[in-house]
Amino acid sequence: MDVPTALQKPEIHIYPTLEEMSRAAAVMILQEGKEAITARGQFLLVLAGGSTPRSLYTQLSGDEFRPQLDWSKVHFFWGDERAVPPIHLDSNFRMARETLLSKISVSPTHIHRIPAEKTVTSEAAKIYAAELKDFFGLKEGEWPRFDLVLLGMGPEGHTASLFPNNPALQEEHQLVVAPWVEQLKCYRVTLTPPAINHSAQVVFFVAGEDKAAALHAVLKGEFHPETYPAQIIRPVAGRLTWILDRAAASQLSD
Ligand code: 6PG
Repeated sequence: MDVPTALQKPEIHIYPTLEEMSRAAAVMILQEGKEAITARGQFLLVLAGGSTPRSLYTQLSGDEFRPQLDWSKVHFFWGDERAVPPIHLDSNFRMARETLLSKISVSPTHIHRIPAEKTVTSEAAKIYAAELKDFFGLKEGEWPRFDLVLLGMGPEGHTASLFPNNPALQEEHQLVVAPWVEQLKCYRVTLTPPAINHSAQVVFFVAGEDKAAALHAVLKGEFHPETYPAQIIRPVAGRLTWILDRAAASQLSD
């Protein structure tokens, strides 16, 4: 199977430590944000969940970087969410609120949270999809164009809540789905591959030795997105960037 062009030419930036890659990513996000706000009056940013981005969000909300962007022009979205309330320790929203949103001046109407606390997780997916369709004014068959989608990657190659051998990987029509994740024995809410792949830029932010093997498989191995879902992320008309620390990149010989 041919490897999609974007996968052949992603930008890869490697830094010695998580701290340094967080600073570099913060500079990049601020630059992209300024350009988007200048060009279109707003910056449409999708936040990643998990733990790695904590360091990046803390940098962004810190005294050095926070003053460099008009946060009132930023709209925040999420790539995925756990099926928990927003105050739950596992909530991706909670992590972003603690490290970033509570420290900047942004209207609640600019925070497009995934309501994953819904008893029926598929209901949360429907609500979030409706919010995206409304925000972007999408007609049937149209996709959101986020300015920048931040993604993490799990040690086995999942991204957002797109897990190996999960039907969500095949989704071609819905913006948002609520897959049962057998590996975790729980439901999740996630943007689908096409909803991510129509973005202007996707940035993977990956750190740690435990990601090195999957990273090598994703970037250097055969194209098997069922096994390594991060491979399914290839912007149809956008940029793909990997921001890594040396530990995560330790198996990328070149
Ligand atoms: C989530 C994330 C998920 C995450 C990876 C990496 O909800 O957990 O969206 O895709 O980015 O699992 O997580 P860490 O940064 O904690 O390693």
